[in-house]
Amino acid sequence: MKLRSVAAALSVVSSSILFAAPDEAALREKVAALLAQMSTEEKIGQLVQYSAPGAETGPATRRNVEAEIAAGRVGSILNAIGVEQTRHYQKIAVEQTRLKIPLIFGYDVIHGYQTIFPINLAQAASWDLAAIENSERIAAIEASAAGIHWTFAPMVDIARDPRWGRVMEGSGEDPFLGSAIARARVRGFQGDDLTNPESLLACVKHFAAYGAAQAGRDYNTTDVPEIVLRDVYFPPFQAALEAGVGTFMAAFNDLNGVPASASKFLMTDVLRKEWGFDGFVVSDWTSIRELLPHGIAADEPEAALLAFNAGVDMDMESRLYLPHLPALVESGAVPMSRLDEAVTAILLAKARLGLFEDPYRGTSEEREKQAMLRPEHLEAARDLARKSAVLLKNERSTLPLRKDAKIALVGQLADTQRDLIGEWRARGREEDAVTVRTALEKAYPGRVTYALGAKSMGDDRSGFAAAVAAAKKSDVVVAVLGEGWFLSGEASSRSSIKIPGVQAELLAELRKTGKPVVLVLFAGRPLALANVLDHVDALLLAWLPGTMGGPAIVDLLSGAFSPSGKLPMTFPRNVGQVPIFYNHRATGRPFDPAKGPDKWKSQYLDVPNTPQFPFGFGLSYTTFKYSDARVASPTLDANGNQRISVTVKNTGRVEAAEVVQLYLRDVAGSVTRPVRELKGFERITLKPGESREIVFTLKPQDLAFHRTDMSFKPEPGKFEVFVGPDSTAPKIGEFTYRDPAQN
Ligand code: NOJ
Repeated sequence: MKLRSVAAALSVVSSSILFAAPDEAALREKVAALLAQMSTEEKIGQLVQYSAPGAETGPATRRNVEAEIAAGRVGSILNAIGVEQTRHYQKIAVEQTRLKIPLIFGYDVIHGYQTIFPINLAQAASWDLAAIENSERIAAIEASAAGIHWTFAPMVDIARDPRWGRVMEGSGEDPFLGSAIARARVRGFQGDDLTNPESLLACVKHFAAYGAAQAGRDYNTTDVPEIVLRDVYFPPFQAALEAGVGTFMAAFNDLNGVPASASKFLMTDVLRKEWGFDGFVVSDWTSIRELLPHGIAADEPEAALLAFNAGVDMDMESRLYLPHLPALVESGAVPMSRLDEAVTAILLAKARLGLFEDPYRGTSEEREKQAMLRPEHLEAARDLARKSAVLLKNERSTLPLRKDAKIALVGQLADTQRDLIGEWRARGREEDAVTVRTALEKAYPGRVTYALGAKSMGDDRSGFAAAVAAAKKSDVVVAVLGEGWFLSGEASSRSSIKIPGVQAELLAELRKTGKPVVLVLFAGRPLALANVLDHVDALLLAWLPGTMGGPAIVDLLSGAFSPSGKLPMTFPRNVGQVPIFYNHRATGRPFDPAKGPDKWKSQYLDVPNTPQFPFGFGLSYTTFKYSDARVASPTLDANGNQRISVTVKNTGRVEAAEVVQLYLRDVAGSVTRPVRELKGFERITLKPGESREIVFTLKPQDLAFHRTDMSFKPEPGKFEVFVGPDSTAPKIGEFTYRDPAQN
C-alpha cells in the first residue's frame, strides 16, 4: 500500500488530530519478528474470519466464537456491533491468546454507518467527488467510533444490467466515472494515515466482474472476454489501488469457467504480479465452500487448496482454511512461503491500523455516542441526497411547487422511514430517517393532504378513491412511488424492472383528475418507466435517499435548490433492451434513425434502439447554454496535450449546478472501439447569467485501450470529440493522434 508522505498528510485538513504516517520499514520488521514466533496453527488462525452470531449477512453457521478467539483460531470478526461487543471480543484476543494478536473487525459500511447517505448508485448521480469522499469520511468517523476497523467497501462493480439488485451499491455502468468515485471513496475511508483511529481500512470488491451476472440474477455466472475485463471491469479496481486501498474481496461468480474465488489469474497474476498489490484478499461469504457447488472442487480440502493457492488470504465464513490448511501445508501442497505471505499481509494491515499499539483504537461508549448523527453529518447526508436526485421530466415548469400550493401527497413511500435508508443500512435506524411527508408538512404547514393511495407492493386498490379525492381538492399531486428498500441489494434481482404493484394504475387514476402530477420516484436501480411517463407532468428520481431523504426531496420540490443529478446508468425503455449502455461497440450495421427505416440494420421491430433516458442525463430548474466549444489543435502528438474547452452559461433564473461531460470516439482501431467513452467531467455551479469556461486537458494515455495481445496504449488515428450535458452530447470537433514510433 502506498502511504502518502507526511507532508501531504499535513496539507489536508483532517476532522481530527493529525497522525504521523508510521515508518513502513519498522512495521514490516515488527511483523516479521512476530511471524517468526508463530506456529503453523497460529498462522492459519489469522486467516479465519467469523461473523458475530445473530448479525449474519449470509447463510448462518453456529459456533462458539469466544472459545475460538481464545484458542487463537480467529484473525477477524465481521458484523460485531458497537463498542461493547467489539471490546469484548478484542479483550479475549489480546488477553487470552498466547501471542495477544488483536482481531480486525470488519463491517459492511456501504452508504453510511448510522447517518445513512443515499444509496451508492444515487451518490454516483451527483458526480460530486468531494461530497462522496466526505460521506465516506463521515461513515469512517461513525463506524470507527463503534469499534470497526475495516469496511467491505467500496463496491466498484461495473453494472450494465438493472435487473441485478446490487446495482444500488455501485457507481453504475461507466469505468471512468466509476474509477473517479472509487478513488474518492478510498480516500474518504482511509484518509491519509490508517493509524488515525477515525480511519477505516477499505476493501474494494468484488474482484471481479460480479456485476456481469448473466440475466442480472445475483451470484450467476459471468463470461467476460479479457479485453473487456481490462477495459471495463478492472479500471475501478486499479483506481482504488492507486488510491491506496488496503484489501480486496474475491467475488462469488464463475468468471469464464473459473470461480473468482479460485482464480489465480485474478488474485495472483493480475492483482499481485501485474498491479503490485501487497495487501490481503478476503473471500466473500462462504465463497470458498461454494467452489464445491460450482463444480471446481471435489471436496473441502480441494476447495481450500484452490482458493488459498490462487491468492485468497482470508476465509470469510467458509470454515475450510482452519480444518484443512494444516494438512495441506504439511504435505507441501501449500508452500509455507504462501502461508507466510498471507499472514504477513494480514498482520501488516493490523499494524498499519495501529492495533498493536492500541487494540481498542481509542473506543469508548462516550466516543461512540458522540460520533453518531452529528448535525454536520446529517447536513452532509441532506446535501448529497439533494445532489443525487435526477429530474427526468418537468413539463410546463410543474416543479418547483408554488409556495402557496395545496398539495395532495400520495403513496406509501412518502410515509415510511425504513424505505428511505435502503439495503446495506449498517447501523442506520429507521426512526432517525425523516420522511417526505414529515418534511413536506413542515415546509407547507396546513397545505398538505396525505393519502396512502396504494402500498408499494401488492394489488390492493382500496386506497385509490381517497387519493383521488385528495387530488381533486388540491392544486397539485405529489406521488411518492416506486421500489421499497427490499427490492434492491444482495439477493434481490428482479426480472421486471417496472414500478411494482398497482402504483402505475394509481398514477393513471390521479392523472384523470386533471391536476398536475409530480412523481417522486424511489428506486434502487434504473426502472422501465414507459407505462408511467405519460401520466406525470414532472418526475424527480429520488432513489433511496437516506436518513435525510425527506428534507432533501422537499428542498428540491420547493425550489430551495435546483436538481442537478445526472444518471450514472442508462434507463431502458423496457427490460428487453437490457443490457443497454452508452459505451457499447458499433456493429457493422448500425441503425441511424435520421436516415429513415432500413430493414437490414441492427434494431428491434417493436422498440427504438435508444434508451428512455441516456447515461449522464438530468434536467434542471434553469437552462444552460453551451458555446465556443473548441478542440485546440487538429493533432495530438505522443508527448503532447490536447486542450478541449467550452463555455457554459446559466441562461435561466435560478442558481444551479451542471455536470459538463466530455466524450471521445476512437474512429478506427486495431480492435473495435466504443461508439463513445466518457473522458472528463466537471460539476460547476452557476448563478443566473453567469458563465464559465471549462477546460479539459487530454494526454495520449487517456486514449489508451487494450488490444488483442493485452498491451495497453493509444493508437494513431482520428478521434471525434463530444461535449455537452449528457452522453448524447453533440460532436464539437476532432483531432488526429500521431505517434511516429507506431507509424
Ligand atoms: C456478501 C456480500 O457479497 C459482500 O459484499 C459482503 O461484504 C459480505 N457478504 C459480508 O457481509
